[in-house]
Amino acid sequence: MNYKIAVIPGDGIGPEIVREARKVLDAAAVKYGFTLEYTELLMGGASIDANGVPLTDETIETAKASDAVLMGSIGGDAKTSPWYRLEPSLRPEAGLLKLRKSLNLFANLRPAYLYEELKAACPLRDEIIGDGFDMLIMRELTGGLYFGARSTVEEDGVKKATDTLVYSEHEIRRIAVKGFDIARKRRKKVCSVDKANVLDSSRLWRSVVEEVAKEYPDVELSHMLVDNCAMQLVKDPGQFDVILTENMFGDILSDEASMVTGSIGMLSSASLNETKFGLYEPSHGSAPDIAGMDLANPIATILSAAMMLRYSLDLDEAADAIEAAVKQVLKDGYRTADIMSDGCTRVGCAEMGSLIRERIQ
Ligand code: IPM
Ligand code: MG
Repeated sequence: MNYKIAVIPGDGIGPEIVREARKVLDAAAVKYGFTLEYTELLMGGASIDANGVPLTDETIETAKASDAVLMGSIGGDAKTSPWYRLEPSLRPEAGLLKLRKSLNLFANLRPAYLYEELKAACPLRDEIIGDGFDMLIMRELTGGLYFGARSTVEEDGVKKATDTLVYSEHEIRRIAVKGFDIARKRRKKVCSVDKANVLDSSRLWRSVVEEVAKEYPDVELSHMLVDNCAMQLVKDPGQFDVILTENMFGDILSDEASMVTGSIGMLSSASLNETKFGLYEPSHGSAPDIAGMDLANPIATILSAAMMLRYSLDLDEAADAIEAAVKQVLKDGYRTADIMSDGCTRVGCAEMGSLIRERIQ
C-alpha cells in the first residue's frame, strides 16, 4: 500500500526532528511492506519568508489531499525574529491555528507516559511517581479562546484588549465522544476539566459531557476544576487516565503533564477530525535557541509518526515497532541532552534517530 504524507518541517528544530522521524518511518515501511510518498510543504516562519504569509491555500489543499500530515514545529524567537514584527494574524502561530481550523482538526490527543528508564529525569519524588503514570490529554483544538473574536482598542487614551471564549454544544459533544471512545480502549476513566465555578462556557461543557457520559456507562466520569488539576498533576499524576478539556486548559495542562514525564521532548500528539485524517506533531515548540545544533530530542516527533501509522493508516504493527524501538534505545542507555542522566550515553538528534532506526530494521 502507498500512502501520501504531507510533511511540514517548519522552523527552528523542526527540519532536524522531522528528518529523523522520516528515517524511522522509512525503515518501518521497508520492514512492514508499505510505501510513503512525501510532499514537503511550507508553514509558519518558513512560509512567511517564502510567501509573505504563514499559510498558503496551496499548503491547505495539498494537506487535504494527503492521507496524513507530519509536522515538526513552527515559530521563532519572539524577541529577535522579524516574524514577530508582523501583525499577529501574519505570524507563524496564526498559520498553525488556521491549518488546524481549515482541516477541522478538533481533537488533539497528547499522551503523557512515564518511561521506566526515564524515572531519573522526572522532577517528582519517588513516592509521588509510585508505579508511574500513563495519561492522555484530549484537548479541544478548534474552539474556545484561541478562535473567538478578539480586538485591541484605545478609548480615551487607554488601551483595552478583548478575547472571547465561545463553545457550542455541538463542539463540546464531538470532543467528548472522542474522549469517551478512547477511554474505552484504555483504563475507562475520563476526568473532564473545566472552570465551572466561574465560566458559563465551562458550565455548558460540564452538562454536555454528562449527557454524553450516559452513552458510556462502562466509563467512569469525574469532573475537576482546572486549577485543582494543575495541582493534582504534580501531586498524584497516577490518578489520571483520559483528561478531557477545552483548548486553552489543554494547551497549558499538556505542557505541565509533559514536564512530569521528564521532558517535553518526549511528548507526541495527534490532531484528528471526524475521519481517519490527522496531523501529527510533537507537543513542544521550535526551540530556536538550539536549532541546527544537533541537540534536539527527536523522540516526540518519532512517536508522533508512530501515532500517524496507528490512527490514520491503520498500520498498528509498524507503530508498535517504532514505540518498542524507542523504549529499547532508552533501555540501552542512550539519551539526548534534555533527558540525560548519570551513567547514560549522550547522543545528538541525528544519532538518536539512527539508533531508533537500527532497532526497527
Ligand atoms: C501547542 C502550541 C500552539 C497552541 C501555539 C504554537 C499556537 O502551544 O500546540 O500547544 O497553543 O496550540
Ligand atoms: Mg502549547
